This record gives sequence, structure tokens and C-alpha cells, in this order.
Amino acid sequence: MKVLITGAAGQLGRALLKTAPGTVEIQAAGRELDVCVPAALADAVRSFKPALIVNAAAYTAVDRAESERDRAFAVNADGVENVARAAHAGGARLIQVSTDFVFDGRKSSPYLPEDEMRPLNVYGASKAEGEKRLRALAGATAVIVRTGWLYAAKGQNFVNTMLRLMRDKDSLGVIADQVGTPTWAESLAEVIWKIAGEPKMAGTHHWSDAGVASWYDFAVAIQEEALAAGLLSRAIPIRPLATFEYPLPARRPAYSVLDKRSMMLATGMMPRHWRVNLRTMLGELRNA
Ligand SMILES: NC(=O)c1ccc[n+]([C@@H]2O[C@H](COP(=O)([O-])OP(=O)(O)OC[C@H]3O[C@@H](n4cnc5c(N)ncnc54)[C@H](OP(=O)(O)O)[C@@H]3O)[C@@H](O)[C@H]2O)c1
Repeated sequence: MKVLITGAAGQLGRALLKTAPGTVEIQAAGRELDVCVPAALADAVRSFKPALIVNAAAYTAVDRAESERDRAFAVNADGVENVARAAHAGGARLIQVSTDFVFDGRKSSPYLPEDEMRPLNVYGASKAEGEKRLRALAGATAVIVRTGWLYAAKGQNFVNTMLRLMRDKDSLGVIADQVGTPTWAESLAEVIWKIAGEPKMAGTHHWSDAGVASWYDFAVAIQEEALAAGLLSRAIPIRPLATFEYPLPARRPAYSVLDKRSMMLATGMMPRHWRVNLRTMLGELRNA
């Protein structure tokens, strides 16, 4: 099967390349294939003739999006529509990735795929708009996979930020009243490849690693696991903060745990606990 991956240089894009099954022929398109340029997408689809497009391209700078609304919407809403149109014209199926930040975090039980989207910030609004446009164009065939708190060995993410701060600082404060699930990009990639092998699967589904954590819990685990892996040489005190003590430009949901049951049912996959995946990723980082 021929698969076109957009945004292939990002966290998820690289994980998709690393975990790809031997049966797929991949065209990995980085920034040179701009999802904001419909003609470029049409050309890419016409020449490569993919059976599937995985759109891993996105504007993901959550705080910067508050002052760059147009750019966020250009990539995350117009860009998704452009990819959907190119996929339709070329007869390709589309897997689109979205975010837990489409929800407002007021629930206290895991978000279901059909729960109402009520984003709190511009990034979430741009991703929600992308979802709506995709559903309107290709709701019957496309798959939307919502995930959250993504990290990988390479990339701008919470794990890498924490490792840097834990080396540079003598203590840290981390938000303890926002709860979600850290997700290794490779576990998301694995489920996407599984969906690729299920041609009849469509609709919106959730995927994250298993379990629940606050950013504070995640930071404490990062320090413990990184010490055990020899990536850090000393422990520093980490204190829990309330959201109001660490103001950021974008508001974030207090609770963004995702209900993964529809995905588990459709793919037969069971998520691994986030801490197990964190340990594996840090082990790979040490050996790199
Ligand atoms: N990161 C998270 O915590 C998180 C959480 C929930 C959902 N998600 C979703 O998961 C998906 C993958 O995220 P990720 O963490 O892999 O993001 P990422 O590392 O930021 O990768 C996104 C890639 O898309 C590229 N890109 C940006 N604008 C583009 C454009 N106009 N045309 C083509 N490529 C473009 C970026 O290039 P540049 O780096 O050069 O801009 C980057 O390589 C996204 O849909 C994201 O919204 C992410």
C-alpha cells in the first residue's frame, strides 16, 4: 500500500517512519509539501497515487497560536481541508490527527469521541475547525484520531523541556491541577498503522497511552526514570503549582483524559501505561 505522510519531520511523522510495516511504500513529505498550497498537494497525490494519506502536519505551538490565529487556522483548518480535497480527488483515504484540546476539560470522566467540542484556546479551535471541515467533506471514509500530551525523543515537548530544566535549575514548579495522559508518539504511530490496515474503519476515535497524570506527576516520573536511566545525575525538588501560579497565554483544559474504547474495539489494540512508554523512550534516548 502506498502511503503519503505529510508533516513527516514532526514528532508523529518521524515515529510513523520508524514504526512503518514492511508492506507499505511511503512518501515522506516534510515542510516542502505545504498543506496550505492546494496545487502542491494535488501534484503530490497525482504523481505518487497514495491509497492513504496520513496528515501529521500541524501548527502545534499552543501558546504562540493565541497571537498567530491566522497561521494556526491556515494549517489546522484550511490545511486539513486542502489535504481532504486532494485525497478525495486522488481516491485516497485520509487519517487526520486531532487533539484533546478540542474539549473544555469540565468533565471528570474520560471524554468520548462524540462529546461536544468546546475548545478553550486558539489552537484547540483551529483543530476543531479542521475536524468539522474534514467531516463535512469525507466523514464517511476519513478517520480522525484525537490524542494528547504527545512526546518523542526528538522534538519540542514536555519531556525534553523537563530534562533541560532539571539539568539547568536547582528546583522546579510544575502545574498539578491539569490532568491528562502523556502519550509516546510511537504508540500513536502504532495505532495509526493498525488503522491503515483496517480499510473500513472511519469516524472519530481517541488514542493515548493508558493511565492518568497531572503535569506535576509527569515531571516527577520523568525525573525518577531519567535518574534511573543515567540521563540525570542529581534529583532536584519539584513542587506542585496551581494553574494560576504559572500563567501562560493559552488556557488549557483542567481535565483532558480521552476514552479510548472505540479505538480498542476497532483495532484490537490495548494501550500501554504511559510510564512504561516513558521508560522505553528514555532508555532509547540514553542509548542514542
Ligand atoms: N504535540 C502534542 O502534544 C499534541 C497533542 C495532541 C495532538 N497533537 C496533534 O498530533 C499531530 C502531530 O503532532 P506533533 O507533535 O508531531 O507535531 P510537530 O512535532 O509540531 O509536527 C508537525 C509538523 O508539521 C509541520 N508543518 C507545520 N506547518 C506545515 C505546513 N503548512 N505544511 C506542511 N507541514 C507543516 C511542522 O514543521 P515545522 O516544525 O517546520 O513547523 C512539523 O514538522 C498534530 O495534528 C497535532 O495537532 C499533538
